[in-house]
Amino acid sequence: MAVEAAGRQVVAVDRDRLAARLEHEAEAFRRSHPRSLELSERSRSSLLFGVPMSWMARWAGDFPVFVKEARGARVVDVDGHEYVDLCLGDTGAMAGHAPEPVVQAIAAQAARGSTAMLPTEDAAWVGEELARRFGLPLWQFALSATDANRFALRLAREVTGRGKVLVFDWCYHGSVDEALAATQFGVVGPRAGNVGPPVHPALTTKVVQFNDLDALEQALRARDVACVLAEPALTNIGIVLPDDGFHDALRELTRTTGTLLAIDETHTLSAGPGGCTRAWSLEPDIVTIGKAIGGGMPAAAFGVSAELAERVAERTDADYEDTGGIGGTLAGNALSLAAVRATLEHVLTEETFAHTIPLAERFATDVAETIEGEALPWHVTRLGCRAEYRFRPTAPRTGADATRSTTSSTGTCTSTRSTAECS
Ligand SMILES: Cc1ncc(COP(=O)(O)O)c(C=O)c1O
Repeated sequence: MAVEAAGRQVVAVDRDRLAARLEHEAEAFRRSHPRSLELSERSRSSLLFGVPMSWMARWAGDFPVFVKEARGARVVDVDGHEYVDLCLGDTGAMAGHAPEPVVQAIAAQAARGSTAMLPTEDAAWVGEELARRFGLPLWQFALSATDANRFALRLAREVTGRGKVLVFDWCYHGSVDEALAATQFGVVGPRAGNVGPPVHPALTTKVVQFNDLDALEQALRARDVACVLAEPALTNIGIVLPDDGFHDALRELTRTTGTLLAIDETHTLSAGPGGCTRAWSLEPDIVTIGKAIGGGMPAAAFGVSAELAERVAERTDADYEDTGGIGGTLAGNALSLAAVRATLEHVLTEETFAHTIPLAERFATDVAETIEGEALPWHVTRLGCRAEYRFRPTAPRTGADATRSTTSSTGTCTSTRSTAECS
């Protein structure tokens, strides 16, 4: 089938031919990666799905490459192939692999002890730096952005006495039970593939479309939502930017309904040293962040406003110090905080963003010019030092709209996307 788009003929994908070509490639991959194949076969007897973490099975070939080393934006596998890494650990290595200051800080701290369940000076330094960058005065640490979000939701429920959480459709905030929810025709249910949801998500969660202020207003009106947990721009269904005025209205609606606002900056740190919170002058009650701040080490943090901190402290029955549900034995450990300090002090600095954001601007401008020059029905979107193009003419405004522009397994390829992180 051939269709006309913007005056050009677009040919639909021949799925049989595609499958045959894919098999050809898979066979070539097996032949050129014998050591990875061997390790993969060996791992199948001891690792669930044959990998240490199930996402690693999601690889284009039949098995993932096993990594020998990674440095900067390059990865070398055990068969000696070198790759340019456009994934960068899904931003866990946004600053590049093995940044020298982080490597040195980790080595030095490891020799001095990694975890004593006591603070180190780096904790104070990192708290001050995060406060300076994001404008929220008080911080604590976790080992993953998932946990930072979980702790933020617990605090929100504790101080508001409300049970529900609101998220935007097609968001991703890690494996946070409340956020693995979706909506169809206004009905909330488990997100497709949700593995053993503990309770039906409609009991815990309201879901509305990003940028839909009417739906948001209606959902918050009942005053039963403890917290809106939001990325400032969706980044996990491609980038979906907020409409002009969306964040002002979100803040206004949350304030007037007594709902707390948690902004998850885990991916949107690409917008600048203080993420979108600083770049767009947002005023959240809570900021959560993980991945990139550790320079590759497991580390995450959540910051709270002075007002929220007071409300938290007033809850004297809440057990913040032991088994109350916030924290973890290794959270805030010395090794993670040494890595975060080195990353913020020497790697993901103001100067770095001043260099990488203009690079992404140049990338986006040139891609946009090429798209326009060729009269293609595509467009490019940018968020700080991250840019991506999509095979559809306009930027989606909601997560649901964004999903309509992916390749269906049976039909015509309407759109896919590509992301470039300019670091
Ligand atoms: C916005 C956002 N928040 C939180 C997370 C969870 O991070 P982690 O898997 O490190 O817990 C992710 C992961 O992709 C994310 O994109």
